[in-house]
Amino acid sequence: MSHELFEAAREAMKKSYAPYSKFPVGVAIRADDGNVYLGANIENLSFPQGWCAEPTAIGAMIMGGASKIVELAVIAEKLPLCTPCGGCRQKISEFASADTRIYLCDDAGVQKTVTMAELLPYAFETDVIG
Ligand code: THU
Repeated sequence: MSHELFEAAREAMKKSYAPYSKFPVGVAIRADDGNVYLGANIENLSFPQGWCAEPTAIGAMIMGGASKIVELAVIAEKLPLCTPCGGCRQKISEFASADTRIYLCDDAGVQKTVTMAELLPYAFETDVIG
């Protein structure tokens, strides 16, 4: 299962639009509907307007009608075991659980598996908003 998700993330990375950083990233999410949703980073000439692979995949998941991340794989062409950036950890956390598995990959496959709670300890959580 995790190998299939790795292969999907590697495929997603091919669609990265990263002419400025030249740092392609791919993400694959297996969602609660059983489907796999893909994302790649999409940059912009106005640098801060670009975004990471994770929100692309989360957007695809939500628009596909799913609502929970069951497991997620991330791969970067130039960095083995690329971990999601801080902002992306919060974004993933919104749709994940403490025990959701995050697969950190290199070009050979999954090299390390961490949980959401390991990736984002002391996550911002509250029920007093709204
Ligand atoms: N990037 C991601 O897509 N996900 C991450 O979690 C880390 C960083 C992208 C953003 C930018 O396009 C490039 O990698 C270099 O920072």
